[in-house]
Amino acid sequence: MLSHVNRTEEARNILVQNDRGGYTIPTAGLYPYQWNWDSAIAAMGFAEFDIDRAWQELETLFTGQWPDGMVPHILFHKPDPGYFPGPDVWGGVGPIPSSGITQPPVAATMARLVWEKDMQAGEERLRALWPKLRAWHEWFLKWRLDEGAVCVTHPWEAGRDNAPDWDDVMARIDPVGVGEYTRRDTSHVDSSMRPTKYDYDRYIWLVQMGRRFGWNQAALLEENPFRVADPTMTFLLLRAHRDLLLMGVRLGLDTTGIADEIALLEAGARTLWNEDLGSYDSRDTKTGAWTGSITNASYLCWLAGIESARQAEHLDRSLAAVPYGAASLDPSSEKFDAKRYWRGPTWAFMNFLIGLGLEDFNHPLAGRLRQVTHDLLNDHGFAEYFDPTDGSPAGGKSFTWTAAVWLGWASKQDRGES
Ligand code: DGY
Repeated sequence: MLSHVNRTEEARNILVQNDRGGYTIPTAGLYPYQWNWDSAIAAMGFAEFDIDRAWQELETLFTGQWPDGMVPHILFHKPDPGYFPGPDVWGGVGPIPSSGITQPPVAATMARLVWEKDMQAGEERLRALWPKLRAWHEWFLKWRLDEGAVCVTHPWEAGRDNAPDWDDVMARIDPVGVGEYTRRDTSHVDSSMRPTKYDYDRYIWLVQMGRRFGWNQAALLEENPFRVADPTMTFLLLRAHRDLLLMGVRLGLDTTGIADEIALLEAGARTLWNEDLGSYDSRDTKTGAWTGSITNASYLCWLAGIESARQAEHLDRSLAAVPYGAASLDPSSEKFDAKRYWRGPTWAFMNFLIGLGLEDFNHPLAGRLRQVTHDLLNDHGFAEYFDPTDGSPAGGKSFTWTAAVWLGWASKQDRGES
């Protein structure tokens, strides 16, 4: 077990070592490019010791923004044969090679945290970034709403690749014609920690379909069988839009329309309440069916400004069931799988986002979640994710967002900060 000081030094080194010149890769080998939400979380970590570098991370992310406002989930700045599916498979149509889907929009929320570290240093940077953030949010509002809730069109878009939320939709996809391909992820980490071949065939089939339609959103709205209204996207966009409004007002910018959009998203978020489950849940927009899973995305409600006593009961129960929660899937679920990515493991950056929301409400679970995350990282280091039953590290090692969460959130109590 390392001392707090050593962990902090190690975390900084991870950010510096994963820096590829203006952007940070999540981890060498497994994820060798710039990932959208990883990068936004990295900016929050950099802000603890290098504000200029923090802004640069966000600025580089937006160099990949498409003309329609979308910000891709991966930017392929430099070729790397160790990753599949690469730029040739995706055929992104933006200014630099990219994937064709997006990821949960946490950039505005992280920009606010970076700005609040040093408002003077950040003002001009934020002024330049703000319209780009807005354009991205507007893109979601234009193309991705279902009753005001925000939809994902690929499991990778929610960032929770193999979450049980997608099981029924994935089962309806027949990945016919997907062809031969070689996965690269399982040459970097153990296959028991990664999605299965069954999942992967469907991920690739969806990519091929998007590419066939040139990533035209109007066409894909008709053709894509995968359209799930999801708590990750919905809660995170709602929160990000609140932060966008707050920053816009403080900067004296034109914020016309944003308050109404927030009200729409808020109503949308409430449509994700599954009364039978007593939890926020994903809804398959093609069938109207609930997915029936209590996931760590369900616990993002507080971050979006929504209090829920019943959701808190689930989190409380889940934290009591495993020593290192919040588990990505409720430990009492029959689908719980402690090491398999989004079907059980605990993710430090999700705990951070959930914790930020709980802290806004001065919720008693806030301190508990931060302590658990602190102990997990202090004792087990900076892996991609962890087995919540024993804390053992899983997935990629020396992981950027895990290190960033240590610097910007989990270690704060050791420094006497709140
Ligand atoms: C991967 O490559 O597995 C990523 O999760 C896709 O974004």
